[in-house]
Parts: sequence; structure tokens; C-alpha cells
Amino acid sequence: MSKLDDIVSLSKRRGFIFPGSDVYGGFAGTWDFGPLGVLLKKKIMDSWWTFFVENREDMYGIDAAILMNPRTWEASGHTATFADPLVECKECKSRFRADKIADGINESVSTEEFLNLHVKCPVCGKENWGPIRKFNMMFSTHVGAVLPDDDSELMEKNIAYLRPETAQGIFVNYKNVVDTFYPSLPFGLAQQGKAFRNEISPRDFILRDRECSQMEIEYFVHPNDWENNFEEMRTLFHEFLEKEMGLKTESIHELEVPAEDRAHYSKRTIDFMFDYPNGTEELMGLAYRTDFDLSNIARESGKSMEYRDKITGESFVPHVIEPSIGVERLFLAVLSNAYVEDEVNGEKRVLLKLPENLAPYRFCVSPLLKNKPELVEKAQEVYKALRAKYGNVTWDDSGNIGKRYRKQDEIGTPKCVVIDFDTLEDGTVTVRDRDTTEQIRVKPEEL
Ligand code: GAP
Repeated sequence: MSKLDDIVSLSKRRGFIFPGSDVYGGFAGTWDFGPLGVLLKKKIMDSWWTFFVENREDMYGIDAAILMNPRTWEASGHTATFADPLVECKECKSRFRADKIADGINESVSTEEFLNLHVKCPVCGKENWGPIRKFNMMFSTHVGAVLPDDDSELMEKNIAYLRPETAQGIFVNYKNVVDTFYPSLPFGLAQQGKAFRNEISPRDFILRDRECSQMEIEYFVHPNDWENNFEEMRTLFHEFLEKEMGLKTESIHELEVPAEDRAHYSKRTIDFMFDYPNGTEELMGLAYRTDFDLSNIARESGKSMEYRDKITGESFVPHVIEPSIGVERLFLAVLSNAYVEDEVNGEKRVLLKLPENLAPYRFCVSPLLKNKPELVEKAQEVYKALRAKYGNVTWDDSGNIGKRYRKQDEIGTPKCVVIDFDTLEDGTVTVRDRDTTEQIRVKPEEL
């Protein structure tokens, strides 16, 4: 089994992540977060929010609707260009994203270039390809009382898309925020929420999904200042990923994205790549989106997106620096960074060395024996006190103490607190450390 398989298996076994609609055999590209997954995901998202929004005076949060006026996607360029190169094997009819089954080509590969590579079909092994077609990745639906047999004009008029990026929910609210809060430049609008992409080949567990969550900031700056602000965000994201998420510095690599590979809106992009178990992949992007979005919205809506400087009186359309990170990709980076196998007393052990601020539970409290009422009563007392103080504390009185430790190691609980017979004598409890397995005795009030 590969390390990714081990992580997928642990995720399911311990209730972090289940395949979407598991009971019906799954639904490709979708995943459901179980009780522990929700706790970890929420901590990751809250940590981002605290770091980038709550702890700063230049950031404002928003939470926009997922369904947006379809003119949004005309203005943003997604209707025209948010597409992947689709190629079909004429033998077995399997469809693939062309740039994912051949090396050395990118999303703008032509049919001729692809055919010259003599790629074999990953399913049937033959080489008989149709032309490359552009496949738009936005999920479309119809809004309101539209029936499948309605004429195409009515269908077209009522079309709507599930947003493929949260960013546009921010851009369409830029003017609302400027007109209600009068922020001074530079300032940022931050949003966390779902985004949907009809990926041709969802893959690598939660790395490439059809439904994912993004955490995005659109940071509005003076056009002359974009480089400084780009650098500031670049530094801040390294700090966030390494200090708050606990990712190893050496696992993160910057990739300066060449012009031909950049998204249509970007004049500069740095992808932060992470060494995932199955290879190095994009974790997040930092893009200089210029005034592309605001200027297009101004054109499409007929409303001015200009910002007037309170001191100089200068009017201009702000430029934008956009750090964008997928929650699932960050979640997988955190999980794989924390996943360790070692040996304790000659026995193989799996543990998640999650940073304390992210661990689903901070403490696990147990009575040494569950059939001794005096131990259970004291343990309940300690459990309730720790829960009142920290909230994220769990109780476990199942199996023997060794099994409980193994389970808590696997879910990343930093400390196990055990109430034993000495507790009844001197009031101290055993505190066992996840990473070192060392045990010390302390008074519960000291925890
Ligand atoms: N607003 C800019 C934007 O959406 P992107 O590079 O397409 O840019 C940003 O996406 C981030 O969203 C990626 O770096 C990745 O973390 C995450 N992401 C994108 N597509 C994803 C998918 N299909 N599954 C999981 N995460 C995805």
C-alpha cells in the first residue's frame, strides 16, 4: 500500500473522510467529512480566518451566494475560457483530460501536438484519438420553473452556474463594501465557501474534486503598489502554512508560473506546490489579477468600479492580489505532513503528529478501568473540567489502556489523561504524550 492509500484508509477507519454517497457506491469527485474530519477542517478554516481576517484591520469578510447572475461568468471570462482539453479514445470511448495523460504539454495543447506524442489510451492501450475539444468545467443548471422539454431559448435565458471560484462573489461585492465601509487602500475582502468544477478526471483522494471549498482573499491595491503587496502576501502565506498549519518548510516549493500556463486573468502567478504522498502538486496560488475583474464588471454592469483616494483625490480602478487556497488540498497537506509510522515496544504504531491547534481533540480522558465506579466518577470530574476549559476534549473508556492510546495516536490527540488508583490517593493524573509516549503525573488543575 502507498502512503496515500494508508491515509485514505485511516481517514475512513477513524471517521475523517468518507467517499461521497458511500452507501450507493460513491459519486466520483465528491467526499464527505465525518465527525473528526469536520473538527479538523473547521480548525483549519478558523485558523485561516483568524490569521488573515480577525487579526488584521485591513480585511473584511463576506459570504456571497453560490448561485450568481450568469453575467458574472461572462464578465469574468469563465463562460468563454474556463475549459480543459478533452480527448476521446475512438476505440473504447473513454474520455480524458489530454494534458493529464501525456508529459510535457499544457492545457492549451492542440490536436496535432497531442497526436504527435503517440499517447496510448490508459484504458484500452490503443492509439486512436479524436480531436481535442474544449470542455467547460462549470456545472450548469436552470433557475426557476423550467422544464426539460422547454424550448432552448427559455432554457438558455434561465441558465445558472454553480460558482467555479469563490472570487467572483467577492468582486461583485467590492462596490457594496466600498460604499458602506469606505475602506482605505490597500484592503482585502476574504471569503470561505464551496466551489464546483466538473473535473474530467477527479483524482488523488481529495486533491482534485468536483465539489471543493476555497479560502480566497482579493486584496485591492494601488496599481503602482502591486509588487510590494504581492511580496507581503507571499511572505504571510509561508508563515501561515509553516507556523499555523505546521507544514515543513522543505515540503513547500514555489513555482513561478510561465505566461502560457497562467489563468486568463493573471499577469503573475506563483503556485505554492506541496510534496503530497503521490508527488508534488499545487497547494495554492498567488496571482496578480490586475484590474481585470473590476474593469470587466464595470463594462458588463455599466457601474463605475473606481476608487477615489481620500487624501490625493486620485480616481482609479484598484488592482488585485489574490491568494487562493483549497481547503481539501490544505487538509490533505496537513494530514500527510502529520502521518507518521514508528515502533513502540517492538509494535508498529501509526500516529498523526498534528499541531496542538489543529488536533480534533486536545485531550482524551479515561478511567484506568471502566468497572471501578470510583475511578469513573473521578475521571468524569476531570473530563467535565477540561471540557469546560478547552471544549475539544474526548472521553474513552473502551478496550484496554494500550488500545486507547493507539486509537488516540491515530487521530492525533496530543495528550491522554488517565485516572488511576494513585489519583484517588494523591489527586494526580497520568498524562501521556502522543509523540514521545512519555508519561508524567500532574494535578488536573495544571493541565
Ligand atoms: N480564484 C482563483 C482560483 O480559483 P485556481 O488555481 O483555479 O484559482 C485555487 O484554484 C485553488 O483552489 C487551488 O490552488 C487549489 O488549492 C483549489 N482547487 C482548485 N480546483 C480544485 C479541485 N478541483 N479540487 C480541489 N481543490 C481545488
